[in-house]
Amino acid sequence: MCGIIGVCQNNSKIKIGKIVFDALSRLEYRGYDSVGIATITENGILLEKDAGKIGDVGKKLKFEQIEGNTAIGHSRWATHGPPSQKNSHPHSSMSDRVVIVHNGIIENYLELRERYTGKGYVFKSQTDTEIIPHFLEEELKNGKNMEQAILQLTSEIKGTYALVITHTDEPDKIYALRKDNPLVLGISNDGNYCASDIPAFLPYTKEVIIMKDQELAILEPHRYTIKKLPSLTVIDRKPHTVTWTPEAAQKGGFPHYMLKEIHEQQKVLSFQLATQNDIFGKIAEMVNDAEKVILVAAGTAYYASLNAYHTFPEYGKKVTIPAIAAEWDTVKPLVDDNTLILAVSQSGETLDTMKAIKDARERNAKVASIVNVTGSSLTTISDEVAYIHAGPEIGVAATKTYSAQSYAVWRVAHALANINGTLDKNEMKLFSRTINEVPQIVQKTVTAAEAQARDLAGWFKNKHSAFYLGRGVSHITALEGALKMKEISYIHAEAYPAGESKHGPIALIQPDYPVVFSIPDDRHRNKMIGSVQEMKARGATTIGIVDEYDNEMKSILDHAFEIPTGYGKFLTPITYNIPQQLLAYYTSVSVGANPDMPRNLAKSVTVE
Ligand code: AGP
Repeated sequence: MCGIIGVCQNNSKIKIGKIVFDALSRLEYRGYDSVGIATITENGILLEKDAGKIGDVGKKLKFEQIEGNTAIGHSRWATHGPPSQKNSHPHSSMSDRVVIVHNGIIENYLELRERYTGKGYVFKSQTDTEIIPHFLEEELKNGKNMEQAILQLTSEIKGTYALVITHTDEPDKIYALRKDNPLVLGISNDGNYCASDIPAFLPYTKEVIIMKDQELAILEPHRYTIKKLPSLTVIDRKPHTVTWTPEAAQKGGFPHYMLKEIHEQQKVLSFQLATQNDIFGKIAEMVNDAEKVILVAAGTAYYASLNAYHTFPEYGKKVTIPAIAAEWDTVKPLVDDNTLILAVSQSGETLDTMKAIKDARERNAKVASIVNVTGSSLTTISDEVAYIHAGPEIGVAATKTYSAQSYAVWRVAHALANINGTLDKNEMKLFSRTINEVPQIVQKTVTAAEAQARDLAGWFKNKHSAFYLGRGVSHITALEGALKMKEISYIHAEAYPAGESKHGPIALIQPDYPVVFSIPDDRHRNKMIGSVQEMKARGATTIGIVDEYDNEMKSILDHAFEIPTGYGKFLTPITYNIPQQLLAYYTSVSVGANPDMPRNLAKSVTVE
């Protein structure tokens, strides 16, 4: 949720405050209610922080003027205590000897807070985090060195953390450790970095090390050491070079990251198509070998995983059970060594997903995962990983990664149909053609739908509530369309299987109520005519996403977005979702919201 950065540099050309400020700006998508920076100076710790947006606070506190060789920074997504100057990170110890930033939650902080209050420590904030600098200071006072103090800390704190620590006794060192929250290292000749995510230091280095749970990194300007906790044995791990460019993490002329990422989808899907083949066949074999498949994911990634629910039974004759990661408890009794878990996650760090997968591993299930971030935690505990190769997604609302995740799932389904011969020759041919042509269909749809979505957003912005309806696989499109609309425009939007809406939700329909339909030319199309008519009869304003040649449907609907014809039932949750992404984006802009940073949300959810 929060964004953290640590820099140990030997490069006086760029002020350290600028490096941290820029890094926090690139991490702002992870948390954006408060920001702060701490450096070690000759006179001790310099700490600047406040509630507010990174740009405003950074300017007000002149972050870019701050000099030094060692600095840590933080952008906060509040959990314990509202956004305020005092609750902002970094947090320092009572005598200002230790200063830290934290991403995660310390579950037993109240108990520890009581203990340290009893020892005379005064707490300045309401956060769970502030216990950590006091704890470390007490250990240092008792004669331990920082490594021993950290060891003691990790044996006593419960919860999740990525922690970056520095202290005045060793002004050139940063200690960084993790448990269940992301932490990556950037290695370069000019200095070393640690952060929640790679874009933080991408302009300075592409040499990256992904830290694993229970590991401690000690960074100095010229070297880094990684140690296993609690043994403190040194781990020999070399960096790998990432292909992401610094430009990929910038807006590239678009007003928002989200719009840029919507426009990048053709490139992303084409890249996935060109670079990966074998992995989908391998995962399809794993599906075939398993007795059942359980899908595990959260939010948009969960919707992408549902493409397997709608295809594996038909193309692989396989029992496929969808599970929202946070609801893992309900399905876990079904998991055994004949189970394949298919996990989908952009970040590969979502805590709900990670916890479910760790539990599945303990139950001897096989795990295949579909992930964006190379080397992320999920990839380290999976038997097979299909990378979606979407590049950094900065907009909090998933767009290109949803399409790329869905694409990967459909490619497994395609391999499954191939292996099992479950489709006749012509259908298989069309399926293969659709896989190859989807990147172009997506681009054509973005181009064709954009102006129309912008216009319709002017009407949508005044609505308080909307329905998104689809049948069969188009239920996924409806779910994703409704989520996008509500998360970035704050208009209540609900998705239903179209046939279910008459069992209750239709009671809400009044004149001019928006209903968005996804209607590909598949086996459900004819029934959708009835669904549209039911809504029209009650005065709803009907917006449909339809095949470009479906004149009958277009004549019934009030508004229609058109999708290139001829692709029938394959991959429609990708193509039919494109107008919905644009409609949500332009509605968000029309209501005056910031689509890149929706309120209360964070890109990577690393709390339960
Ligand atoms: C959707 O727009 C959100 N960003 C959210 O639902 C997201 O998909 C979910 O939190 C899962 O994240 P992950 O893919 O990184 O696991």
